[in-house]
Amino acid sequence: MNDVNILVLVSGNGTNLQALIDAERGGRFRGGKEHSGGRIAAVISDRPARALDRAEEAGIPAYTEMPRLSLEPAERRRELSDRILGIARRMDAELIVLAGFLSILEGDIIKTYEGKIINIHPSLLPKFGGKGMYGERVHRAVIEAGEKESGCTVHIVDAGTDTGPVILRRKVPVLDGDSPAALAGRIHDEEHIAITDAVAVMLRRLKK
Ligand code: GRF
Repeated sequence: MNDVNILVLVSGNGTNLQALIDAERGGRFRGGKEHSGGRIAAVISDRPARALDRAEEAGIPAYTEMPRLSLEPAERRRELSDRILGIARRMDAELIVLAGFLSILEGDIIKTYEGKIINIHPSLLPKFGGKGMYGERVHRAVIEAGEKESGCTVHIVDAGTDTGPVILRRKVPVLDGDSPAALAGRIHDEEHIAITDAVAVMLRRLKK
């Protein structure tokens, strides 16, 4: 069985990408009798990002594909999505992982890769998800709502924002006096486990 080519989309520091790189190096994504193996075949960022340096340090082809600011927002999203779809097709990607990717994918890529795009979000979806809910805003909203627990969710990307079927969640307590940064740090540690576990789950689903 050939390995599944995994395309990882990023926008920031890339600690989730780093967790995937480390897992692959550790043999976590090796194929078995019943399922495909996986390899991170490329990384795309929609802006300059530390994540790209991590990819290059790991010898993984890394590209920056910026939104075309000359376009209207809706057309800008569609054009970037179609450009990424073109790259995914050319590299024969079979799994797309959004690891801190901040642009919204829409249009043909969602249909072409239906059920094969996953995203990690730093809350227990469906709570505290949706448009504009990313980064520290999520943790601030969780704290302000008086939640006693939070965590991260890996889900299938559909035409909505943070709305697709959940693959797995990992929970953390919200402690009295937590700052958004403290909660973010506690969740971040769980994300790195969640994202690698979710890729392993997807590889078992993708028969070759
Ligand atoms: C993570 O908090 C993830 O949940 C969110 O974006 C952040 C990415 O962090 N989608 P990193 O770039 O992987 O360090």
